[in-house]
Order: sequence, then structure tokens, then C-alpha cells
Amino acid sequence: MTHLVLVGMMGVGKSTVGRMVAAELDRPLYDSDEMIENRTGRTVREIWSTDGEPAFRALETQTLLEALDDAEPSVIAAAGGVVLSERNRDALKDADAHVVWLLADVEVLLDRVRNGKHRPLLDDDPEATLRRMYDDRASLYQDVADAIVSVDNRTPSEVAKAVLRCVA
Ligand code: S3P
Repeated sequence: MTHLVLVGMMGVGKSTVGRMVAAELDRPLYDSDEMIENRTGRTVREIWSTDGEPAFRALETQTLLEALDDAEPSVIAAAGGVVLSERNRDALKDADAHVVWLLADVEVLLDRVRNGKHRPLLDDDPEATLRRMYDDRASLYQDVADAIVSVDNRTPSEVAKAVLRCVA
């Protein structure tokens, strides 16, 4: 039995869909950002502004590797930036894991991240930032993905069903 890992950009719905899929499969859910916040007792934003991005990325790697290492099959909602590190990408490819890339148009992402204040990377010009990030990361998500599920024009529960079909 393999882990099911959801990767993709901020705002694509990894946590929401991850929760639904984990409930459906009756598996534990590992949510990267939540794990980091529980472990450190600090928010992503606090870690980012106090310790800086490299410190945050190290925690991101640590939680990803830990989740992948668990013998019990789980659902992992990986933080958007996990694919930036080659070590993380290799871990995703080498692990006993089915990796699903949740894909959305930047317009859709923009609409979804509008109300959240917890993403320090989107403080300035979220549209340009998301477009740049998408351009930088699309090939990296593609590199680790076993399957791609589009979230455009789909509700979270429709996305969850599509994800479940990928691993059925
Ligand atoms: C980030 C994504 C965020 C969070 C941090 C950086 C990124 O997680 O880890 O703000 O670099 O894409 P979500 O993808 O869960 O929003």
C-alpha cells in the first residue's frame, strides 16, 4: 500500500481535498504546513519572517520525509514549495507513493488565495507572484507527478473523487 501525495500550487486545495480523500480512504492525513505549525508552535508566517525562507524550507523537507517514511499508508497534503528541492523531488519519486498534481489556472488560484493572509509569499502582487511561481514550478510538479487532476470548474468533492479514481 502506498502513500497518496497531493502536490500543487498554493490555493489549489491540497488541504481541503486531502482531508476528503483521507476520510474516504480512512487514512491519516499529513498536512505539511499544519505539521510545521504544530511542531514549532509558530505560524508559517512567523517562521518565515523570523527565521527566513531557508529555515522554513528545511522544516518543509523534514516533515515531508517524515510523512513519507511512515509505514502506515497516509494521505499527504504537501506544501506548495516541496518540489523546489531536488532532495524532496527524489524522495517523492523514490518513495512508495502515488503523487497527484492538482492543477489550476492562475485565475482560479488567485480567486482562492484572495481571502487568506497566511501566505507570506503572496503579500506583494499575488497575481504576478503566482504566475512566476507557476512558470518556475510547473515542470517540477510534472517531474514528480504520477497523475494530474485539474481542479478548474470542479468542486473540492469532485476533485477528491477524481483523485480517488487515479489511485483506484
Ligand atoms: C508555499 C506554500 C505554502 C506555505 C508557504 C510557501 C510555497 O503552503 O508552505 O507559504 O512556496 O508554495 P500551501 O501550498 O499549503 O499554501
